Amino acid sequence: MALNDPAQQQEWWRHAVTYQVYPRSFADGNGDGIGDIPGITSRLPYLRDLGVDAIWISPFYTSPQHDHGYDVADYCDIDPLFGTLADADALLERAHELGLKVIVDLVPNHTSSEHEWFQAAVAAGPGSHERDRYLFRDAPADGSLPNNWMSVFGGPAWTRVEDGTGDDAQYYLHLFDSSQPDLNWRNPEVGDMFVDVLRFWLDRGVDGFRVDVAHGLFKEEGLRDQRRPEGVDQLRGQSAGESMVERSEVDEPMWDQPEVHDVYRRWHEVLAKYDGDRMFVAEAWTQTPESMARYIRPDEFSQAFNFAWLLADWKADAFRGVITDTLDAVGLVGGSPTWVLSNHDVIRHVTRYGGGELGLARAKAATLTMLALPGSAYLYEGEELGLPEVEVAPEFRQDPLFLRTGEGGRDGCRVPVPWSGTAPPYGFGPGTGQPWLPQPDDWAPLTAEAETGDDASTLEFYRAALAVRRTFATTAGDDVEMLELGEDVVAFRRGPVTCVLNCGTAPVDLPEGRVLMASGPVDGTLPGDTAVWLG
Ligand code: GLC
Repeated sequence: MALNDPAQQQEWWRHAVTYQVYPRSFADGNGDGIGDIPGITSRLPYLRDLGVDAIWISPFYTSPQHDHGYDVADYCDIDPLFGTLADADALLERAHELGLKVIVDLVPNHTSSEHEWFQAAVAAGPGSHERDRYLFRDAPADGSLPNNWMSVFGGPAWTRVEDGTGDDAQYYLHLFDSSQPDLNWRNPEVGDMFVDVLRFWLDRGVDGFRVDVAHGLFKEEGLRDQRRPEGVDQLRGQSAGESMVERSEVDEPMWDQPEVHDVYRRWHEVLAKYDGDRMFVAEAWTQTPESMARYIRPDEFSQAFNFAWLLADWKADAFRGVITDTLDAVGLVGGSPTWVLSNHDVIRHVTRYGGGELGLARAKAATLTMLALPGSAYLYEGEELGLPEVEVAPEFRQDPLFLRTGEGGRDGCRVPVPWSGTAPPYGFGPGTGQPWLPQPDDWAPLTAEAETGDDASTLEFYRAALAVRRTFATTAGDDVEMLELGEDVVAFRRGPVTCVLNCGTAPVDLPEGRVLMASGPVDGTLPGDTAVWLG
């Protein structure tokens, strides 16, 4: 597998490790129990010392917070909960001083229902220019809904406008919460507005954008019914992790329409006019590695999240398959791969891999494997401390997914980061009580303070791995040679580094080489649930 000539590909983001900050949960500067921008700025030296290259900050814009900021009411201002534009400028300046790039989150699929456009649309009534910026449809006379589309957060994707009565009654489409109306990307005003938003943040100095629901902007004309078998996740139904049978039964005219690519070609040109290799990364849950690769053709996105890696089971053949499929797919378009194990939407990988000591051992091994691969990696706040998913009591849950369905939800990976001390809020902020989601009372050993300087800690493991990665990430090239070391083993050579991951239980013999880094104790052979880098 050969990707493009590495000498041609030295933009910073191609090899970067980017750390995701979920602002509510990272660090609280003012003591209200909710993280904020001054809190993030105060912890930037920690991130520099961790050894990451960039941070991606989940939305901090003006928002009623029904989906914790993924419901944006003003794309060009900061929510008072998180601070001010001056705070954002100070964060950018400090990050750049420390050599860290900053990626912000852009949410173009929908606005908040409190966005001035939506408020105007509701007020203006059916047939108006204002309603054409969203997807309003007349209420069918038989009392049914305009189509059978489901919200990703459960229930129908249509909500009736409250004051619509009789002949005037209309519904609006929301693929997520009813407070997140979908925009009509076939209306040119929408595209123009987002170009202005891009420029607003590029002018302030951001280095890139993470684009939310990048595969969702356009809906097939006519809005015909969807077909989705029971049990297939609405958002991820088309992702590479689902089986072929499920895939062929899924037909969802709201995702991955060809017109979305025109949007990203336009954005590519906007970014290209700025200095400093500005980038954008797609959150696009697509059906196959090939359809993911279409988002990173040379004139579109810089990168797309590789969710297939995150969805893979703890099995060597699953990981091997994702590696070869990913490299083949990005190779088709001369793009760069990315790797990710956790984010604010999924169960933390320590817990996904079984929890406890076993889950942590596997999580570290999967992380080490991902960090050896060509391309860039995304980390999620707290994974460097080995944080597990938290079982949040129902009365504290806030995720709209839980509120709409009474089940599940993503609060468990969003519990505020423990920094220091022995009891909640573990230095999260100057306050004394529990933060917005309660932290467990057994997290004292998992604080950044407790783990610092302890060679056996997850934090020191991440610091060491990122330091060693720096010695080869940009020079090892992008060619990967897969090695056959047994059914339970993932092994590959990349330039001077050989990475071996043992997903089984029996120890395996290691090839020749000096141990550069290991995720657990290694003594001649490689134990199960462990990975190693040899040089
Ligand atoms: C993306 C975000 C998720 C959000 C949703 C709606 O999937 O990652 O957190 O709820 O989009 O904006």
